[in-house]
Amino acid sequence: MAQALFSILLFLLLFSVVTLVFSTPQQNQCNLPNQPIRAGFYLSNSNHYPSISSINPSLYTHLYYTSISSDTSSLSIFSPTLKSKDPSLKTLLSLTPDTLVFVEDDDFLNSTVETVLANGFDGLDLMLQYPISRSEVINFAVLIRRFHIRLNDESRPLLLTATVYFSNHIFDGPSGGLDYPTSIISSDLDWINVASFGFYNSTNVTVFDAPLYDKSSHFSASYGITSWIDAGVPPCKLVMGLPLYGRSYVLKNKSKNSLGAPVVADGPKQRVSNHTGMMAYSEIEGLLLDNDAVFVYDNTTVASYFYSGDMWVSFDGVDVIKEKIEFTSKYRLQGFFLWPINYDNSNYTVSTLASEAWIERFSSCYENNDGFTQAAAAPFELPPIHELFNSSKSNKTLKKGYMKFHTKPLKQYYEQIGQKYQGRLSK
Ligand SMILES: *[C@@H]1O[C@H](CO)[C@@H](O)[C@H](O)[C@H]1NC(C)=O
Ligand SMILES: *[C@@H]1O[C@H](CO)[C@@H](O)[C@H](O)[C@H]1NC(C)=O
Ligand SMILES: *[C@@H]1O[C@H](CO)[C@@H](O)[C@H](O)[C@H]1NC(C)=O
Ligand SMILES: *[C@@H]1O[C@H](CO)[C@@H](O)[C@H](O)[C@H]1NC(C)=O
Ligand SMILES: *[C@@H]1O[C@H](CO)[C@@H](O)[C@H](O)[C@H]1NC(C)=O
Ligand SMILES: *[C@@H]1O[C@H](CO)[C@@H](O)[C@H](O)[C@H]1NC(C)=O
Ligand SMILES: *[C@@H]1O[C@H](CO)[C@@H](O)[C@H](O)[C@H]1NC(C)=O
Ligand SMILES: *[C@@H]1O[C@H](CO)[C@@H](O)[C@H](O)[C@H]1NC(C)=O
Ligand SMILES: *[C@@H]1O[C@H](CO)[C@@H](O)[C@H](O)[C@H]1NC(C)=O
Repeated sequence: MAQALFSILLFLLLFSVVTLVFSTPQQNQCNLPNQPIRAGFYLSNSNHYPSISSINPSLYTHLYYTSISSDTSSLSIFSPTLKSKDPSLKTLLSLTPDTLVFVEDDDFLNSTVETVLANGFDGLDLMLQYPISRSEVINFAVLIRRFHIRLNDESRPLLLTATVYFSNHIFDGPSGGLDYPTSIISSDLDWINVASFGFYNSTNVTVFDAPLYDKSSHFSASYGITSWIDAGVPPCKLVMGLPLYGRSYVLKNKSKNSLGAPVVADGPKQRVSNHTGMMAYSEIEGLLLDNDAVFVYDNTTVASYFYSGDMWVSFDGVDVIKEKIEFTSKYRLQGFFLWPINYDNSNYTVSTLASEAWIERFSSCYENNDGFTQAAAAPFELPPIHELFNSSKSNKTLKKGYMKFHTKPLKQYYEQIGQKYQGRLSK
């Protein structure tokens, strides 16, 4: 409690200093790179993933290294291996810091920055996809501010980004009604990666995991992006997430295979994705070759799925990817990221498609205009929050949340960078 209070005071103090010193007109908030962002997240924690050397770095402008395992050999080879192939590539280290533990810890700040520098990264990403309390959000803001100040001390400019929930407002969290600290986000981060997927955690009916549109609920990528823009984050600081995983279910009755059909379990674990209820794009492609597989693209929500026997899988097929790229350019977002690139097929088909579509849109749509500074109009008005919570959808038996990839490996990482944190982490 005392710590929380202290954090709030620190936050208020920092915030008032920030407002005085760093207040900038809207157009200066966008310190844009020469090229817009085509990013990818790389998960490091499985030997069933394609090797780092198989990645073609020219498909991306930025690659994130995440899920640090106890084997740090790939941490040190990641940047050198990829940059030797494409020196223009930028790499970032993505962490999920325990904000309640690390917020006031100088050693943590310093050892993190040392890890970034020692392993040839160009920046740091702080991932907080599913904040659970007000103090966690405040600590996140303080941590962003402290890293921002700390990174500005480095002689080499380093990037600072955050990876966040699909919407500015956190739905269905334990304490309800939480919002991200958008002013700190706009002033201190180069951009945010908006995780526009994984809208439903558990469900007993088939659902789309990452539809672009959904007129009947707030669980859509377009809704989430709009909420960030409405909250004051300029579109040029938004990078939209495209999932390379599918969400799989076992149907109750294989003849009932439409959207909203009853399901009895998560789909079976696959070799690469290694998670029940989840499938890599490469695995989906393999299963689609089956004669029984039926593929469906829904052009209203911009989502796709396939079923085969009693298996039902929601995923982003190539049509969905193209439409989402179109959306990111139409609303003048700063780019997209793929999550995770390990799940692409051996030809990196989705990465290639997304990259080419984005470059084409960029040259036709952005370059002819006066840069990125003009904020896009929000695609549509957000309904008032109380309506959202009272909407018929909130009655649904759907629980939302995130696929969590990182918790355990990250703990191992913290154990490496400082044995003394161990006790505090085991709480
Ligand atoms: C798959 O997941 C299990 C835990 O569910 C883990 O023990 C195993 O090492 C994983 N396999 C790979 C190849 O990562
Ligand atoms: C952290 O790094 C800064 C800048 O290099 C230095 O001034 C400070 O003393 C360091 N703090 C700790 C606890 O090592
Ligand atoms: C499965 O659905 C079909 C079509 O609606 C129906 O005819 C059949 O009786 C159902 N089977 C079971 C076991 O409920
Ligand atoms: C889903 O579960 C809820 C209870 O959690 C139940 O009321 C509802 O009927 C179930 N729907 C189906 C399609 O089984
Ligand atoms: C969606 O598909 C239907 C049926 O194929 C078609 O009539 C309609 O024009 C399509 N809508 C859009 C927005 O593409
Ligand atoms: C990859 O590309 C090669 C050559 O174009 C093709 O033969 C192969 O089927 C492709 N593999 C996948 C998984 O798409
Ligand atoms: C739902 O609506 C009722 C009145 O329509 C209101 O009193 C209540 O506070 C709303 N609930 C939430 C969570 O906003
Ligand atoms: C919501 O759930 C309540 C009880 O759980 C039920 O009485 C009400 O009819 C439901 N509303 C809708 C729109 O499904
Ligand atoms: C999904 O929901 C279940 C049940 O509420 C919960 O135990 C689990 O932790 C959730 N998973 C994630 C990844 O949030």
